Amino acid sequence: MSKTMSKEEYLNKVKEIDTTKEAPKQLEDTDFLTVARERRSVRQYDPQYKLEENEIRDILETATLAPSSSNLQPWRFLVIEDQEEKERLLPIANNQQQIVDASVVIAILGDREAYQNADRIYSQIAEKGNMPEDVKDMYVNSILNNYGNFPKERLAKIAHIDGGLVAMQLMLAAKAKGYDTVPMGGYDEAKFVEAFNVPESYEPIMLLSLGKGTKAGFEKTRLPLEDILSWNRYE
Ligand SMILES: Cc1cc2nc3c(=O)[nH]c(=O)nc-3n(C[C@H](O)[C@H](O)[C@H](O)COP(=O)(O)O)c2cc1C
Repeated sequence: MSKTMSKEEYLNKVKEIDTTKEAPKQLEDTDFLTVARERRSVRQYDPQYKLEENEIRDILETATLAPSSSNLQPWRFLVIEDQEEKERLLPIANNQQQIVDASVVIAILGDREAYQNADRIYSQIAEKGNMPEDVKDMYVNSILNNYGNFPKERLAKIAHIDGGLVAMQLMLAAKAKGYDTVPMGGYDEAKFVEAFNVPESYEPIMLLSLGKGTKAGFEKTRLPLEDILSWNRYE
């Protein structure tokens, strides 16, 4: 049988075999296409670098401009900046060094009960004069009725889709502002939920390290578009 490795070995091996020497690129040009091209998963961070709270808030505000199902914005963020809390997270996240070295770890969560904010969200639209009050009421009632009857799995799926979108936007916003990130699914969800008191209705989506990278991370490799693209319908 061919040799395999544990998840922890694999995740830490990734760093060893990454022979990049240079630091992540600081972009002079932060137009969208450049940022999208230059963002990389960065796994080495300057542990001394501390991000200002307002900088973190700015990045999160931009992230939340992402689209979401019925604009219900089910994403929730747990920003872990306390070093002791990061140390507590380390073994839960396969001892990935970026957990303790990056300025913060952001846990992206998705609330399955986010639909209960429908009235608050749609009232904002109505108050701006962008939706008549009676239409708003009907809309909100439909959302409460539909989402309120969706099975847990469907609400979880929605939380994951919207959570992926907000995470992507967060990573791009961070890169545009001169910071680096790595998304992480390599952690024990159940242990994380327990250790960090995550509310029952929240789905853990992923962890993200955010900080000042010291090594660029792997150059991009992607499957050719020809292998993943079809037009109109599958034969
Ligand atoms: C959902 C998800 C989970 C991931 N989990 C980890 C992880 O636990 N540890 C890690 O080092 N990288 C993780 N990655 C990063 C991927 O390895 C990386 O995105 C991929 O190799 C492409 O490289 P790039 O992000 O630099 O373009 C994850 C990425 C995604 C989208």
